[in-house]
Amino acid sequence: MTSPDSLKLHRPLDMHLHLRDGAMLQLVAPLSAASLAAAVIMPNLVPPITSLEQLLAYRQRILEAVGPLAASFQPLMTLFFQPYSHALLAAAQPHLFALKLYPHGVTTNSDSGIHHIQAAEPTLALMQDLGIPLLVHGETTGFVLDREAQFLATYQHLATRFPRLRIVMEHITTAAALSLLDRFENLFATVTAHHLVITLDDVLGGLLQPHLFCKPIAKRPQDRDALLAAALAAHPKLMLGSDSAPHPQHAKEGCGCAAGVFSAPLLLPRLAQLFDHHGALPHLQAFVSDHAIRIHRLNPPDKTITLLRQPWTVPASYQDASGLRVIPWEAGQQLSWQIAPPT
Ligand code: DOR
Ligand code: ZN
Repeated sequence: MTSPDSLKLHRPLDMHLHLRDGAMLQLVAPLSAASLAAAVIMPNLVPPITSLEQLLAYRQRILEAVGPLAASFQPLMTLFFQPYSHALLAAAQPHLFALKLYPHGVTTNSDSGIHHIQAAEPTLALMQDLGIPLLVHGETTGFVLDREAQFLATYQHLATRFPRLRIVMEHITTAAALSLLDRFENLFATVTAHHLVITLDDVLGGLLQPHLFCKPIAKRPQDRDALLAAALAAHPKLMLGSDSAPHPQHAKEGCGCAAGVFSAPLLLPRLAQLFDHHGALPHLQAFVSDHAIRIHRLNPPDKTITLLRQPWTVPASYQDASGLRVIPWEAGQQLSWQIAPPT
């Protein structure tokens, strides 16, 4: 079967995106807004987004940062999980996509994350009643390769205890997490592009690669292969969530490397290359949009992105006039697909 030289993606979505704030927001937000119809915006700012006022002000800053692209890009806002009242959730709901739960201390800016899942339960019950989804960074603080596996029991507990709560296992990295999707109707998952491509060997099997260091850390080849097979087969409960997480170059390349892969600039071309390589291009639309629209009943702006099978070199870095510089995933490498220039 020959594959086409161009591909149209209708309403592509990123169901897990870090846009940051300030100068970083200005630098990175247009890169996502140019190629996506909507994105789920993570709330782990300093301080985290925990009130409706903060959420609305952050949304406004995002829209200003994307400028004219705001007409065709919808930021789907999230609150950082903490115990909330019914009154606050009900007031926020029209402006809110979901709550993002971080266990205490598992990743960047999760210091105010929860210590015990029991303390979360009253709020989870309210969310279930209101129909607000729960997004979870599902890791413990145990041994780094086992953190996701150790959290799976918590997912099972939550899925059983709150059968009408829509629970999204964010950025899954293991075959074991994938297998939970078949066992609980109310469990869904996002997966990043980089976890479909890399394993732990790519991070530290040779020279240490700080730009591939993220949380959860990439796992074994059999985990990567299981995730990839599910994405290529358009598993109906698996959605793209890039977890594009920019940090300044000095925070990635110095001693004490911050966790996060900055994949936003190459997200769709890299996925087109991957799906094309495996003869699965017809399933890319479902993975990057249709599943999320169905699962969450979304209505993103009507936007179509055309990808071309033409070589494109990922820029070595993105920077602003003040000297802020971010290094993207696969910086300087040539991809076989690119986004068609605007006509
Ligand atoms: O690698 C990561 N970076 N994982 C996360 O969970 C957070 C993110 C960030 O905010 O930098
Ligand atoms: Zn994230």
